[in-house]
Amino acid sequence: MLRKPRRDDLLELEVEQLDERGHGVGVAQLASGDYRVQVRHALPGERVQVRVLRRRKQRIEALELETLRASPARVAARCAHFGPCGGCSLQDLAYTAQLAEKRRQVESALRAVGCAVEVEALIACDEPWRYRNKMDFTFGSRRWVQRDEPAGVAQGFALGLHPREQFRKVLDIEGCAIQFERGDRLVRDARRLALERGLTPWDLVRHEGLLRHLVLRESRASGELLVQLTTSSEAPELVRPYVDALLVMHPEISTLVQAINSRGATIASGERELVLHGTGLIRERLAGLWFEISASSFFQTNTAQAEKLVATTLAEAACGAGDRVLDLYCGAGSLSLPLARQAGHVHGVELVEAAVRDARRNAQANGIANVSFSAGDVLEWMRGGEAASANVIVVDPPRAGLHPKVVELLSASRARRIVYVSCNVNAASRDLALLASAGWTALRARPVDMFPHTPHVECVLTLERRA
Ligand SMILES: C[S@@+](CC[C@H](N)C(=O)[O-])C[C@H]1O[C@@H](n2cnc3c(N)ncnc32)[C@H](O)[C@@H]1O
Repeated sequence: MLRKPRRDDLLELEVEQLDERGHGVGVAQLASGDYRVQVRHALPGERVQVRVLRRRKQRIEALELETLRASPARVAARCAHFGPCGGCSLQDLAYTAQLAEKRRQVESALRAVGCAVEVEALIACDEPWRYRNKMDFTFGSRRWVQRDEPAGVAQGFALGLHPREQFRKVLDIEGCAIQFERGDRLVRDARRLALERGLTPWDLVRHEGLLRHLVLRESRASGELLVQLTTSSEAPELVRPYVDALLVMHPEISTLVQAINSRGATIASGERELVLHGTGLIRERLAGLWFEISASSFFQTNTAQAEKLVATTLAEAACGAGDRVLDLYCGAGSLSLPLARQAGHVHGVELVEAAVRDARRNAQANGIANVSFSAGDVLEWMRGGEAASANVIVVDPPRAGLHPKVVELLSASRARRIVYVSCNVNAASRDLALLASAGWTALRARPVDMFPHTPHVECVLTLERRA
């Protein structure tokens, strides 16, 4: 083919790897040049025939038409929603192959910024199914209709997850192979009760409707169950009877919180929270400590792997009684408190005030006195200059990574070590490159598989100042 490929052209290629979204990627070598082709559902090692959907310069998005040679690592997906569901797209890749692929992703992200650090093998999840202790289901007024459903079927109400790259639609979820077992019946009953009562789901385009999110959280250690129902207004005359019916059907719910989010942003947290049942908290055990977690506090979603993540972070921080440690983006203290058992003092900084309240209460309840917390934005707090006395700094930012100004302030710190816990290795690599140009060097990269069957990977990166 001498001309550049166009929509609907057919190509054949070898899939070499997965990209950060879990799509297969290979190179089509054509007379008009080499093109990087991205194909959904295709796995590394497969030969596929594809149809071009769109091309931008040397990059092509394509639809797989036929697998000409399947990967030996291809396995049957376990979940009935696999395919349309945007949740865990790697279910059809054997777990050991997922681990190898994620390690390669960490290596390639670090290499792309010139970081030559050795990446250790992923710390695998012993039980890669039913591992999530938290699920955030969405109510929506545009249900994803499956191909085999009859014409004219009702589609104005759904409770589930967004289909892949279809953020306006919601796929009804009957059961989810990675969430905790009791969550399946809960999501089905919450949907049925809402439909029976004629409650309206949120419409993402028109910004109307009552029900927005259903967040389920289970504690492995205490068995407690927290349900958070996010609505667009308080509407007690509608919400109260609905919640009461759900509590009658599910007496195992320990606490139920209503979050009110009247804004456009599709997030489960609200401007206001009302505790409708129980204490508004659940208790979980991690690193030999008890944590009380409120609905709006972050807590690692894979409890078993969180143990390994905490242990890895502690080993990398390698602090002792003489160290002053800073734990930036500390949530409810799940790294700060274990660190405080080794260090002289730990100070945690966190934006969400409820999480800081949880962290302080958790410190007290566990008898840990050498820890303090500040509520607020990390950048604002660092600008105050209080970071100067820390000799070990742990950062665990959200997916976007660090603000460039935070990296600047970290670069200038006198700490001997930075431990960067990242859930987005591309963002972390970008930050690492900036730290490297300010004299920091990466010693180790230790990835932990917190999210089996999804393309996401967590990584603990250790940096020290070059001598
Ligand atoms: C990945 S979580 C880590 C939490 C904690 N280290 C843990 O393991 O449980 C990131 C945390 O950063 C907090 N956060 C997000 N943006 C922030 C900011 N600008 N300043 C302070 N904290 C922030 C979030 O609320 C969340 O608790």
